[in-house]
Amino acid sequence: MGKFLLWVLILVMVVNTLSCLGCLEEERIALLHVNTHILNTTYGNSLDSWVEDKMSDCCKWSRVTCSNITGRVIGLYLSFVSYERVENWYINATVYLPFKHLNSLDLTRNNIAGVVENGGFDKLSKLRNLKELDLSYNNLNRNIFSSLSHLLSLKELYLDENPLDSPHNNSDNIGHERLSGLNNLEILHMRSTKMEENNVLSALNLKDFINLKDLDISENKFQSFEPIKGIGGREMFLKHLC
Ligand SMILES: *[C@@H]1O[C@H](CO)[C@@H](O)[C@H](O)[C@H]1NC(C)=O
Ligand SMILES: *[C@@H]1O[C@H](CO)[C@@H](O)[C@H](O)[C@H]1NC(C)=O
Ligand SMILES: *[C@@H]1O[C@H](CO)[C@@H](O)[C@H](O)[C@H]1NC(C)=O
Ligand SMILES: *[C@@H]1O[C@H](CO)[C@@H](O)[C@H](O)[C@H]1NC(C)=O
Repeated sequence: MGKFLLWVLILVMVVNTLSCLGCLEEERIALLHVNTHILNTTYGNSLDSWVEDKMSDCCKWSRVTCSNITGRVIGLYLSFVSYERVENWYINATVYLPFKHLNSLDLTRNNIAGVVENGGFDKLSKLRNLKELDLSYNNLNRNIFSSLSHLLSLKELYLDENPLDSPHNNSDNIGHERLSGLNNLEILHMRSTKMEENNVLSALNLKDFINLKDLDISENKFQSFEPIKGIGGREMFLKHLC
């Protein structure tokens, strides 16, 4: 009995210490790398609380969420992260790999037009806990579909307001990439992406998405049916697709 209580006490102490630690040093450094990547490729940013100070708890920095149990970074909310920028931003997804517990990554409203060499979104497949990726309001085109198809842990993917009809003319596979294989995906939003009927049919391998509960492809250039509004409309549309 005494031994049992001792273990309980040790457990309580360990849990307490973990939650008091604040952010991990390696994650603090990785956040500073993210900051450098943003500064290097855009004109300044709004991450004022991200400071190069060993005593600073990065879990308290703006746009960062840590788990209150493990102290690991689980959310990064990097929407509209730059004050001013060059027309298009090419990001390096590998800068997010140190956040092994990352659950949610928000990169909306950044004018992201693509990725640097060897810095594609497929790299994020190493993040086994990544459930939610929000890339809405960027300048991405259909060329990213095959790299996104590697992110099998994703439950939510938001691509609203990207010109998904207009692949760059520098790919081996111009305009033919498909989003496929994401069989854990529950929510897929592609509102206002300039897609036409034939784009949607060829771009989404819908039969892979066995857990999909919410598909929003409204405000596109469909002609043979009305824009989808509400569940009823969506069902009708899906029937149309199959
Ligand atoms: C940012 O630029 C500096 C100087 O040009 C370079 O040393 C550094 O590696 C760059 N960092 C990233 C993350 O690209
Ligand atoms: C830990 O976080 C969860 C969700 O993020 C929250 O619901 C809960 O209240 C938090 N617990 C403590 C002790 O702060
Ligand atoms: C992308 O980031 C990784 C890790 O920080 C770095 O090693 C690599 O050189 C970067 N690639 C480019 C093209 O900047
Ligand atoms: C793509 O680029 C090639 C040469 O770089 C050009 O000949 C071709 O017309 C372009 N195709 C489109 C659809 O713009």
